[in-house]
Amino acid sequence: MENPRIKIMLLGKSGMLGSCFMDFFVGMVGLNLHAYGHADLDITDAVKLREKFLEIKPDLVINCTAYTAVDDAEKNRDAAFRLNAEAVGNVAKFCKEIDAALIHFSTDYVFDGMKSAGYVEGDAVAPINVYGESKLAGEKLINESMGKYYIVRTSWLFGKNGKNFVDTMLKYGAAAIQNGTEMKVVNDQIGSPTYTHDLVNAVIGQIVEPLEDGKPLPFGIYHLTNSGVCSWYDFAKKIFEIKKMEVKVLPVTTAEFPRPAKRPNFSILLNSKMPAMRSWIEAVETYLNN
Ligand SMILES: NC(=O)c1ccc[n+]([C@@H]2O[C@H](COP(=O)([O-])OP(=O)(O)OC[C@H]3O[C@@H](n4cnc5c(N)ncnc54)[C@H](OP(=O)(O)O)[C@@H]3O)[C@@H](O)[C@H]2O)c1
Repeated sequence: MENPRIKIMLLGKSGMLGSCFMDFFVGMVGLNLHAYGHADLDITDAVKLREKFLEIKPDLVINCTAYTAVDDAEKNRDAAFRLNAEAVGNVAKFCKEIDAALIHFSTDYVFDGMKSAGYVEGDAVAPINVYGESKLAGEKLINESMGKYYIVRTSWLFGKNGKNFVDTMLKYGAAAIQNGTEMKVVNDQIGSPTYTHDLVNAVIGQIVEPLEDGKPLPFGIYHLTNSGVCSWYDFAKKIFEIKKMEVKVLPVTTAEFPRPAKRPNFSILLNSKMPAMRSWIEAVETYLNN
């Protein structure tokens, strides 16, 4: 993307995924980028949001904002729906008004997790927690409002500038070593960890650049995760192995580790419409060795 003609509006530039887009975009020659963080533009303010869309008139909007606190969403249903559904519906409506394309991110948590073989894009959705319900409501509002959209569902994200499992394990692992204690990690939830760097690289290469070249990928829903599956327990063990940390990790069941929000047992997204990304193990090695 040496000299892109398209004007890109990035929403949520300071979050884990948004800041990764910023890392890729910084330094791209000729980039016509208008990027906003929460403090610059509150996307739940429909009036300001529409004004900004009409002022900038982007060709492409990339929405990285979200209410991502899965457990808190159980008691803050309105806040989760305000951002993940209502505001997303407005983003889609205003995209339609100015004929912009939209890239929006969604989650494995739109599924109930009963299908151990994994989910393809067209599989029936049935969220089991408020966060998943709110994200699904956002997907539906996009679909009802416009046609030029890419909804990219991903799972178990890790990367710089965000709360994520890898950093949490490093913190708790260090404390466990210091205190001589064990760590318990859930072993009956299965999914695919996904590195923000790999996700952004794929989205730019396979969605943004073809759009820029006038050869857009068909619009619709896509699943994009790193390859391979594991449990949170396997993931934790791999993190400690890579960092050579001698942490004693005990596998536990979800029932032994209750949380406010239910989690799907199998939240494996099958990337059936895009080339596979590298394995989650290679990805976590890269993240931890940089
Ligand atoms: N994290 C995961 O494991 C995971 C898994 C699957 C799918 N996803 C999806 O991937 C996408 C990116 O997630 P992420 O982990 O990068 O999220 P994140 O780190 O929580 O970032 C979300 C961003 O949204 C901003 N934001 C919150 N309220 C806003 C508002 N009213 N107006 C404008 N901005 C607002 C936040 O800013 P403040 O912090 O300043 O409020 C934050 O920068 C989301 O769609 C998420 O649902 C994430």
